[in-house]
Amino acid sequence: MEKINIPNHVAIIVDGNGRWAKKQGKNRSYGHKKGFERLEEIIKYASSKNIKVLSLYVFSTENFKRSKEEVDYLMNLFEKNLTKFSDECSKENMKIFFSGRKKPLNDKIIKMMSEIEEKTKENTGTIINFCLNYGGRAEIVDAVKKIANNLTLEQINNLDENEFKKYLYHELPDIDFMIRTSGEQRLSNFLLWQNSYAEFYFPEVQFPDFTKEEFDKAILEYQKRNRRFGGIVYENKNN
Ligand code: IPE
Ligand code: IPE
Ligand code: MG
Repeated sequence: MEKINIPNHVAIIVDGNGRWAKKQGKNRSYGHKKGFERLEEIIKYASSKNIKVLSLYVFSTENFKRSKEEVDYLMNLFEKNLTKFSDECSKENMKIFFSGRKKPLNDKIIKMMSEIEEKTKENTGTIINFCLNYGGRAEIVDAVKKIANNLTLEQINNLDENEFKKYLYHELPDIDFMIRTSGEQRLSNFLLWQNSYAEFYFPEVQFPDFTKEEFDKAILEYQKRNRRFGGIVYENKNN
C-alpha cells in the first residue's frame, strides 16, 4: 500500500456473512462468527496503516426485523467479545465510539458500550466507530431533537452545517472512502450525513473473505479516484 493519499475516514458495511456461510453448507451464525473474527483483524490492520477513523456497520436499526434466533446470536456475539477486543484495541491507543440508538438493546450491552467508551476516551490513536443499532435517518432525527431541546430559536436560526454536525452521535470528519463487501451496491441507511462526498467501492467478496490483501486492494482503488467536491480541485496528485 502506498503511503501517499491514505483516506482519513474509512467506513465499511460489513456484508455477506450469511451468504458466505450458506455457500459452505453452514448456518448464518457461523458466518457472523467468522465475520467478527475478520473484523478484529481488519481493525488492527487499518489502525497500523494510520487510518484516523474507521466506521463499521455491524447492526442496523432494520436488522431487528431478522429472526429472533439471528438477532440473539448477534447480540450475544457482541456481548461476549466486544469488551475483551476493546481492551486489546485500547492497548494500541485506539479510541472506541458507538453510534446508534440505545433502545431496544438490552441493558447489559448498553452498559458495556458506555464502559468501553469511557475506558478508551483519553486514547489518541485510530477512532473505531461501531455502528450498532444504527440508522442514518434515525441519527439525523435524533440530532434535530437534541437541537430542539437545547438551543434557543435564535441559535437554531444561526445553525449551519458545521454546527449541525456537532449534534450527531459523534462529531466525526466526513467519510473519504466507503467500502461495502458482498457486491451489494446500496447504503442501507448507513451514515447518510457523513457519506455525502465519500468515494464508494463495492468488492464482490463476502466480508469473512475480506482479508488484509483485499483491504490493500481497496486503498489502491481509492488512490486512483479523483475527488472534486463540486469544484475543480484535483486532490489526487497522481492524476
Ligand atoms: C452482515 O452480513 C452482518 C449483519 C448485517 C449483521 P449479513 O447477515 O447481512 O449477510 P448476508 O448479506 O445475508 O449474506
Ligand atoms: C446492512 O446490511 C446492515 C449491516 C451491514 C449491519 P443488510 O444486509 O442488513 O442490508 P440489506 O438488507 O441487504 O439492504
Ligand atoms: Mg446483508
